[in-house]
Amino acid sequence: MKHSDSPDRQFHRRAEAIPILGFGLSVDVYSPDLFELMSRFDQAELRPAYLEIFRAEAEALRKVSRHLRTVPFAYHGEGLWITQPDFSATPLLNQELDDALLHLEILNSPWLNHECATKQMAGYSFGTYLPPLYTAESARAVARNVASVQQRMDQRRRPGDAFGPLFLLEMPPLTYFMAGTMTVPNYFRLVTDLTPCGLVLDIGHLWTLYRYSAARRRSSVEQFVKSFLHEFPLERVIEIHVAGLAPHQAAIPQSSPSNYPEWIDAHAAPIPTVAWTMLEQVLSHPRLRNLRAVALEVDTKPIERIVEEFQGASDRFGATIGCLLARERPAIDALRAVEGGLEMHSRDIDYRRLEADYAEYAQIATGQRPPTGRIWHGVAEDSIGLERYIHDYMPHEILRWGGNLTDMFPETCECLSDAGVVLTEFVPWWFHKPRPLTRPYDFFLLKIDRLLEFVGERAPALLEVARREADVLRSAYADANAGVAPFMESSR
Ligand SMILES: [Fe+2]
Repeated sequence: MKHSDSPDRQFHRRAEAIPILGFGLSVDVYSPDLFELMSRFDQAELRPAYLEIFRAEAEALRKVSRHLRTVPFAYHGEGLWITQPDFSATPLLNQELDDALLHLEILNSPWLNHECATKQMAGYSFGTYLPPLYTAESARAVARNVASVQQRMDQRRRPGDAFGPLFLLEMPPLTYFMAGTMTVPNYFRLVTDLTPCGLVLDIGHLWTLYRYSAARRRSSVEQFVKSFLHEFPLERVIEIHVAGLAPHQAAIPQSSPSNYPEWIDAHAAPIPTVAWTMLEQVLSHPRLRNLRAVALEVDTKPIERIVEEFQGASDRFGATIGCLLARERPAIDALRAVEGGLEMHSRDIDYRRLEADYAEYAQIATGQRPPTGRIWHGVAEDSIGLERYIHDYMPHEILRWGGNLTDMFPETCECLSDAGVVLTEFVPWWFHKPRPLTRPYDFFLLKIDRLLEFVGERAPALLEVARREADVLRSAYADANAGVAPFMESSR
């Protein structure tokens, strides 16, 4: 589909086709059990206006769509690593896109929400999201990759529809650090100037940007939010997320209480007061004029707490959100027009340079080289966050998060220890060389493959034991994914 309209005009035409969904939940089908959660809501005579469902096997999504007929759905995708310069050349891209298209169709979703982040970078695999390099070149590459996914969704639109589901780009959380040469809101401004995508503004992610950038040293949270919103393309925000924040499991407890605890994005944790205050500030902004939905993101949270927080938030914000969504929108012609479409704005991207920048990023984030150069200047000045990531967070991710290796492979781990192989050696081994993926990204399956490889190199005599344990894990995982049953902790 070729458009001569500016990205802003294209966006508004697309946004007009998106229904008002209201105040709902962003959930995982497995954790907590979605059917149990919804029946608890029925008992409480409460109803989320919609459910945004995180990526799951098609069969599990079909089951959800068959059994929860009265609630509208939206889709939270995963595995489309649009921040990466090699995105369009990824061998598994077509399979990932076909999966996303199928999931969108099953859920009849008006949008595809995806983090502007990656778990796979320059051949290195991570368990949780790493934000993009906040540079202009990287923003241009993201815009181009998002446009290519949008084109695929438009090609597969339903008969009679003018467009496919809208790509929503979510501003990702920071896990202690970020690198770049431009501000985060300006980065998203550049992306949206180049492509007609919508945005998701996640309040918890916004808090982590305050906490892990220089902003916390020079302004209050309120001032930070005010200046962030001034720069951020708020008129593109279609959905707002609100979720919990908490210190990481591997974090050393702080000896004295702090106004700036080392919280990270934590969906299982309670939503703190500061997040509700920030939400209030965002909702009152006049440029928030294309909002269609607000969701509490509650995967892995105890059911009782979800119901309680939803009730409290409905009482406090329900009327405001209702008024905001019902209000009349300005005519398209009266809107700010950026001249030219994607083609006119998209200067040639130096992909070779960007690939080198991301390879450097992967090596710095895994402690294999120091943060130097213009992009890493801020991190080099204050490296506490990066150090925290390298020495506490990342080893936890490889050894325990999304599947604790000693629980997954009890016999193998015991034998490794008897053979004098220390399991912590698995962490530097994991990152000692890049390894391109051979199947769609799945951190749990990746852990199994990599542990077998590690055992094969370090203690080949134990391979038989490890393979036996791996077979049991793979088949239990496949069974759990095909149904709607919890297996491991959420992989978000
Ligand atoms: Fe979110």
